Amino acid sequence: MKIRDSGMPPEEMWSGFFSPGETLRRLGLSEITGDVVDIGCGYGTFSILAARLVRGKVYALDIEQEMIDAVKRKATEQTIQNLEPIRCDFMTAGSLIPDASVDAVLLFNILHTEDPVSLLREAHRILRTGGMTLVTHWSTDKQTPRGPSLEIRPTAEQCAAWAQEAGLTPSLGPIDLPPHHYGLAFTKQDKP
Ligand SMILES: C[S@@+](CC[C@H](N)C(=O)[O-])C[C@H]1O[C@@H](n2cnc3c(N)ncnc32)[C@H](O)[C@@H]1O
Repeated sequence: MKIRDSGMPPEEMWSGFFSPGETLRRLGLSEITGDVVDIGCGYGTFSILAARLVRGKVYALDIEQEMIDAVKRKATEQTIQNLEPIRCDFMTAGSLIPDASVDAVLLFNILHTEDPVSLLREAHRILRTGGMTLVTHWSTDKQTPRGPSLEIRPTAEQCAAWAQEAGLTPSLGPIDLPPHHYGLAFTKQDKP
């Protein structure tokens, strides 16, 4: 089941809203050498760059075949070999990634889902201890040219509270990711 308000505009428009390299660098992805999962990857705006940054594998997950095809096409064109697009519905089947097997999970522009805590619990489940969940979303305190309606758009504080409910520990943020987004990072720590 597709999450609410998750239709995508044309790629040229979508990619103009972000500075993916700056976003990943400021959230600390360049320090990760292991495997990454991008849940709800869309056009691969972040997965493609993540695959260039890390030495491990990047799993790019989306429910839409059109998005999976777009990511596959880019990986082929750019000879990126450590990127694996996977079609899945995380709402009904989870991420299909084994327990404690990856080092970073990207939840970018997706936490307006109907059940954000379940999605964050899924991130926690698949992370190795010490792994990071990185979150971005559209700013809630200024006009943005796109993004879910303000009634369902989460604030950074809401995302942080949900992440902690899912067992994740805040490690960075909220930071401003101009022009339209904020970002947060969380880690999976050892159980006390
Ligand atoms: C707003 S877009 C964000 C794309 C990407 N994370 C980014 O920031 O560029 C949300 C994406 O999540 C996907 N999606 C929605 N519901 C999903 C589900 N249940 N399982 C997997 N992907 C889903 C949509 O197809 C869409 O590509």
